[in-house]
Amino acid sequence: MRLVFLLFLVPFCSAAVLQLPTKSTGSLRAKLIQAGKYQEFLASQHAARLQQLNTGSQPLIDYYDDMYLANITVGTPPQPASVVLDTASANLWVIDAACNSQACNGNPGSGYTKQKFNPNKSSTFVKGTRRFSIQYGSGTSSGYLGTDVLQLGGLTVKAQEFGVATNLGSVLGSEPMDGIFGLGWPAISVDQVTPPMQNLISQKQLDAPLFSIWVDRKLQVSQGGTGGLITYGAVDTKNCDAQVNYVALSSKTYWQFPMDGVAIGNYAMMKQEQAISDTGSAWLGLPNPVLNAIVQQTKATYDWNYEIYTLDCSTMQTQPDLVFTIGGMQYPVKSIEYILDLGLGNGRCVLAMLSYSNTGFGPSYVLGHVFIRQFCNVYDIGNARIGFANAHHSF
Ligand SMILES: *[C@@H]1O[C@H](CO)[C@@H](O)[C@H](O)[C@H]1NC(C)=O
Ligand SMILES: *[C@@H]1O[C@H](CO)[C@@H](O)[C@H](O)[C@H]1NC(C)=O
Repeated sequence: MRLVFLLFLVPFCSAAVLQLPTKSTGSLRAKLIQAGKYQEFLASQHAARLQQLNTGSQPLIDYYDDMYLANITVGTPPQPASVVLDTASANLWVIDAACNSQACNGNPGSGYTKQKFNPNKSSTFVKGTRRFSIQYGSGTSSGYLGTDVLQLGGLTVKAQEFGVATNLGSVLGSEPMDGIFGLGWPAISVDQVTPPMQNLISQKQLDAPLFSIWVDRKLQVSQGGTGGLITYGAVDTKNCDAQVNYVALSSKTYWQFPMDGVAIGNYAMMKQEQAISDTGSAWLGLPNPVLNAIVQQTKATYDWNYEIYTLDCSTMQTQPDLVFTIGGMQYPVKSIEYILDLGLGNGRCVLAMLSYSNTGFGPSYVLGHVFIRQFCNVYDIGNARIGFANAHHSF
């Protein structure tokens, strides 16, 4: 399954939430495009993340067009890390202070340095005997497992097992993140480590065994600003409509559910296929015929240099809605969400979609931030279902 999103960092493991609140200008993609490094980056993009908490919530900062990070701490005294919240993987890992590779320090040229975790400086750290290795499309994070205190927002997991990475793939070294925080189901947890959410639930720290994610709207990458919010233990009723439509999960691995069909303009295709909600992906992954239809309907053209579909930025608000049908309900995604201005220049914007070659099992649709911006996603662990609600945006 992981091979699907090779283009994006982790097919299904993605990462990405860095909270650098003061950093709100510029686009990583645009920077890479200008530096001629976008293709390398393509192998790694995945994106967004958010984080926040139980009572009250902590704002997510939108780092780039598609990266949102959340701050956690590990150890005693607490050592900070900015991690990507990823519903398509289920492990937490941070970087070992003993790793001094370029990737572990932040690749020179990326403009990022890494916050690393020094287990020797935590009085509560217990080193395990097992190793871990998680493969992403463009590289691997590997090292050993250990257990320590984890704090996220106002919540504490007293004994969380997690990875301490002593090896990082190069692309991971170029992204503004110190680790990945998996929010997927235990069944996809590498080494069968119990994920943080399951520990929070079993330790009865949450009002309800669920979390919800809201991602704020971006019109232009350069606008920066807040990124979104993750709410543990409750539906985010401030940023999302109270009306939540739920659909039962078809698999408790990824956040996977049946997609009934898709329509755009005068194209419609009703055929039930599997979909996942992936906070680690910025874009949409779609079956090839669906992507082709969207390209036709929007008159997008393929850019061979950047390996993306582009279209005129002036159509950003006037293209037809991309309507997903899930559980008998229609979910229209507006073009303002699926067209991104990444600073390509010449008035060209990007169709934030990729062809997803389903290999016969697993999901055919990967719904990343493009979808989650339009609809808050409620990840209901207790009832094994996922819910969608209209997201509120200030513009
Ligand atoms: C997250 O951590 C970074 C690095 O320590 C810090 O600069 C930033 O202010 C933090 N952001 C939030 C929202 O706490
Ligand atoms: C922590 O201690 C171990 C054992 O002495 C050592 O191998 C490792 O390099 C130390 N880590 C750091 C970051 O100093």
